[in-house]
Amino acid sequence: MAKLSLTFHAGGPIVTGPPSGHNWRGSKGDYNDHAEDPGLFRRQDHCHHRRRKRHRTCHALIFAREGANVVCADINEASARRTAAAVNAKGSQALALKVDVTSRAEVDALIARAIAAFGSVQFLFNSAGAAIRRAKFLDIDDALMQKTFALNVNGTFYAMQAVLPHMLANRHGVIVNMASMAHRRGGPGSSIHYAAAKGAVVTMTMGVAREFATQGVRAISISPGPIRTPFQDAAQSSPELVKQFLDDVPMKRFGEPEEIGELVLFICSDACPFMTADTIYVNGGGGWR
Ligand SMILES: NC(=O)c1ccc[n+]([C@@H]2O[C@H](COP(=O)([O-])OP(=O)(O)OC[C@H]3O[C@@H](n4cnc5c(N)ncnc54)[C@H](O)[C@@H]3O)[C@@H](O)[C@H]2O)c1
Repeated sequence: MAKLSLTFHAGGPIVTGPPSGHNWRGSKGDYNDHAEDPGLFRRQDHCHHRRRKRHRTCHALIFAREGANVVCADINEASARRTAAAVNAKGSQALALKVDVTSRAEVDALIARAIAAFGSVQFLFNSAGAAIRRAKFLDIDDALMQKTFALNVNGTFYAMQAVLPHMLANRHGVIVNMASMAHRRGGPGSSIHYAAAKGAVVTMTMGVAREFATQGVRAISISPGPIRTPFQDAAQSSPELVKQFLDDVPMKRFGEPEEIGELVLFICSDACPFMTADTIYVNGGGGWR
């Protein structure tokens, strides 16, 4: 059976495939795989510990749990290495690469390394993203706008362009891009630059999904509300900001990284082969203002 692969932006990307002989349900074509235990109701504890430090590791470990090999890429090399070591410890294979997703050359090289290492890439998870800094609309200068788009939009664009020819040749691939609830709210008062960039991610994902819909490739974006990662550290340091976030979340809590990781796994699996193009909201029931 062909190996499965995922390219993951933890920050940057990951590539995965199952160890040989593993019958992963994300494999192309064979719907009998559904008869196997998909593991979706299995509770695991590996990412419930020290989760704020290990949130990126969490997504990779969820794929490793399912027998996938992983390429971990991040501009923070130490972080990519930590994630790869955790995957290796679970018995899957992982490659750690330092990649700046704002560089097309680095992203191209990443995808090439991933294919060379594991033979093929089935999944791409583009997660690198940030608001760079908070700014009121009239204070957003060209540099902030360009940096925000370079990271959130160009990074996603480069990775999709790099991997798509390979996925099309295989007639199989799933791309998951991280957007944000911000694209629905517009980010008034602090982050219109970021909201606009995530809006571009949602739209680009939809376009790619529809352009390649008959060629075995699916693309979906995820639009989370507040998730407990270092991204939210600034907010969590201020009780007023925490209250402001939670006022807008009916469940009255931040989301956890594994609540995104399990969704990414589901999207990549054959459990949802008719699902493509849309953005999926993960927000505790609200966050629309
Ligand atoms: N945490 C949230 O509340 C939240 C909500 C909505 C959307 N998101 C989105 O989810 C994604 C993941 O966010 P997170 O919460 O894990 O954020 P995070 O800040 O914890 O992680 C971002 C990662 O991106 C990496 N990175 C930054 N610049 C990079 C570059 N140029 N090249 C490669 N890697 C780079 C960082 O090293 C870091 O590992 C982002 O796209 C973010 O916009 C997060």
